[in-house]
Amino acid sequence: MAERWATFGIDLHLEPTGPGLRRGLTDALREAVRTGRLTPGTRLPSSRSLAADLGIARNTVADAYADLIAEGWLTARQGSGTRVADRAVPTPPTRRPSPRRAPGRLPYDLVPGTPDLSSFPRAEWLKATRRALAAAPHDALGYGDPRGRPELRTALADYLARVRGVRTDPERIVVCSGFAHGLHLLCEVLRARGARTLAVESYGLDAHWDLAARAGLTTVPLPFDSLGTRAQDPGAADAVLLSPAHQFPLGGALRPERRAAVVDWARRTGGLILEDDYDGEFRYDRQAVGALQNLDPDHVVYLGTASKSLAPGLRLGWMVLPPSLLPDVVAHGGGRSVSVLEQLTLAEFLTSGAYDRHVRAARLRYRRRRDSLVESLATRVPDVRITGIAAGLHAVLRLPPGTERSVVQAATWQNLAVHGLSRFRHPATGTAAGDALVVGYATPPDHAWASTLDALCRALP
Ligand SMILES: Cc1ncc(COP(=O)(O)O)c(C=O)c1O
Repeated sequence: MAERWATFGIDLHLEPTGPGLRRGLTDALREAVRTGRLTPGTRLPSSRSLAADLGIARNTVADAYADLIAEGWLTARQGSGTRVADRAVPTPPTRRPSPRRAPGRLPYDLVPGTPDLSSFPRAEWLKATRRALAAAPHDALGYGDPRGRPELRTALADYLARVRGVRTDPERIVVCSGFAHGLHLLCEVLRARGARTLAVESYGLDAHWDLAARAGLTTVPLPFDSLGTRAQDPGAADAVLLSPAHQFPLGGALRPERRAAVVDWARRTGGLILEDDYDGEFRYDRQAVGALQNLDPDHVVYLGTASKSLAPGLRLGWMVLPPSLLPDVVAHGGGRSVSVLEQLTLAEFLTSGAYDRHVRAARLRYRRRRDSLVESLATRVPDVRITGIAAGLHAVLRLPPGTERSVVQAATWQNLAVHGLSRFRHPATGTAAGDALVVGYATPPDHAWASTLDALCRALP
């Protein structure tokens, strides 16, 4: 017998098995509690309604409940019914990771990649959701345009032109579920068109190199020198992936002559530039560096994401494509990957000005964080040089040669998660950029910032 039971808002698949209904039901319930499918404190249906749902005698259910109460799995109290006992469950602790911290995560966190999630603009986002849903026509809830909702593509086209200098119209935009998804689609398309190699920066994210490799592309690191990535020379690569506004993780902006030179390379060879503009809105001490795509929208794909400006969990990203690539990207499953409701909400967030307000406030907060990091290091560990801080949400702390591993280990002893620079080095990169920490200073919530900074200073040499 397999039944779904939906009383009291509980929806649980129960499969009483074995000889005898009472025994079968007892075993199925015990298993549901033991494995954590029924969590401590959950109120069970009355024996009458469960019996009705399962089509069995009420006494059978009452007997099964009594057995489990006697065994300590359930409790019964006058007036509050039968519940899963508070500490009934010898559930293995790893089955259900704490919602606050993934298993193994340390309490202090300076791993780059995540903005301060506690400052996500929940109230404004909710308001935008409500307004967007109220205004949406019925057909917005259908499958719609594979590139994404026109409201969002229009809002993005305006925003990207105004803030990042991107040259586009809504027709060239495809909404995707974050940068990584966009990159995946582009690699698939490139490979299907016969491409074999993707030139990448010598330091970057292995997750992105892995995506390319899974699509059948070999990643080849570009050389770098004291001025940054030698992007002007992707050689025989079919395409090049760059973070020109703020190199991840080293932190510099691609120099103007190298920007021009890599665009020349693309025009000359028919190569494609994939521009990763992951944190383009966060500029502090210098004039914003506009999108490289502005130089040649027919040879540069611009990729943006809400992962730094809002939250990575939204899985919202966008691509601005050369017209020649658009049909293939759509054919490879671009678009329709993000819930219409999230798309409409982001469109409303952008057009109402809430996005600009949020980014401005976040920029101010992160700038203060960065300044406090710089000041603390200058007074407490003056030998550590800090670079790559004009923009973005992370800084690079230069360490004495040969100390990176021991500093990362010392940070662990201080309950601090932080990554060394070497972790971001492409395996085929010849020369290393030296020992350093890559510090994601946006990650901790405000209340934890001071203690996280203390932990960092204690770990540094
Ligand atoms: C260099 C770089 N690019 C892009 C992203 C954004 O990726 P996604 O939009 O898939 O969350 C990140 C996030 O950590 C990043 O560090």
